[in-house]
Amino acid sequence: MNGLRDHEFLYVQKRNDRTKAGIEKTVYGQLPDGQTADLYTLHNAAGMTASITNYGGIIVSLTTPDRNGKFEDVTLGMDSLAGYVKGTPYFGALIGRYGNRIAKGKFTLDGKTYTLVTNNFGNHLHGGTKGFDKVLWTATPVEGDEPALKLTYTSKDGEEGYPGNLSVQVTYTLQKDNALKIDYQATTDKPTVVNLTNHTYFNLAGGAKRDILDHVVTLYADKFIPIDQTLIPTGKLQPVAGTPFDFTKPTVVGTRINDSTDTQIKYGGGYDHGWVLNGTGDSLKLAATVYEPTSGRVMEVRTDQPAVQFYTGNFLDGSVTGREGFPYKKRYALCLETEHYPDSPNQPNFPTTVLKPGETYKTTTVYQFSSKKE
Ligand code: GLA
Repeated sequence: MNGLRDHEFLYVQKRNDRTKAGIEKTVYGQLPDGQTADLYTLHNAAGMTASITNYGGIIVSLTTPDRNGKFEDVTLGMDSLAGYVKGTPYFGALIGRYGNRIAKGKFTLDGKTYTLVTNNFGNHLHGGTKGFDKVLWTATPVEGDEPALKLTYTSKDGEEGYPGNLSVQVTYTLQKDNALKIDYQATTDKPTVVNLTNHTYFNLAGGAKRDILDHVVTLYADKFIPIDQTLIPTGKLQPVAGTPFDFTKPTVVGTRINDSTDTQIKYGGGYDHGWVLNGTGDSLKLAATVYEPTSGRVMEVRTDQPAVQFYTGNFLDGSVTGREGFPYKKRYALCLETEHYPDSPNQPNFPTTVLKPGETYKTTTVYQFSSKKE
């Protein structure tokens, strides 16, 4: 086991001592190729925990308090490494090189056409068949009041069809104020495209024992990105006003999710679209607020990215058995994947996702948790 002890504390921390921040590291398991994956649990002084494995950079659990101070896991996940290796629809995972879809797995850069692995109705989705969600990252824990886990991975030139050796660094920081911050960074030695995100599935009721249709969502976006039947953007943006995509005011998710008279709802099987975030510039802006009325939990998502993919777990069908043997059914969770627009490499009117040698791709997203009385 690479000389690792089965249970190693990096920062003196009793599991039931919620007053100190720190990181606990355990061996998570062995991958089919014999490599060992670890599990790091970041604790803050307020009692929140974030458990992350260096396999896929997956957030295995995130415990946050409800309005009575009860900590529960607000994510979908598996009981063991084997569960993740067997396959999940990207539960908690880091996504790269390109989060979301690239039409037909092809794009042209500097006159050269690249062919990527296609894994979703003839399109390329979330980095291909072995994306960043399925590789072992090198982990460096950073102790402190705001414990952090630095993950690095070098994606080789040609991996899944992408050009350039891409050096990636992702840092998860558990802040004092019950926020999980994700900093992404990447550099390349050849022009390439990059769009990194995290694919955590949230159910703020805790334990993911029921659907998310009564979650109340606000998206700070006046426009969304319409798609075709294969979920590829048409290339035009559409105002949300007057459509089931209007979440500019707090809106119960289930209200119009089944409005099949709306073509976009039909194509997405519910919500599975990019919303174009209001505001410009590189600073962190509020992208989404989610409120779950029974627990009182609130999640605020801030990002410097231009869009957020709001996905309502439409493809979950109970076939993946998650934690404690519990089947995750349709719409038992929602995802808020901060990112660039889907298929940008083929859409001349969308903001560019090209990264050139000498440049540094840099982006930050913060998921902050709190609760309110009613
Ligand atoms: C993203 C996509 C969805 C789906 C999920 C994983 O959110 O937009 O269409 O592929 O990932 O199932």
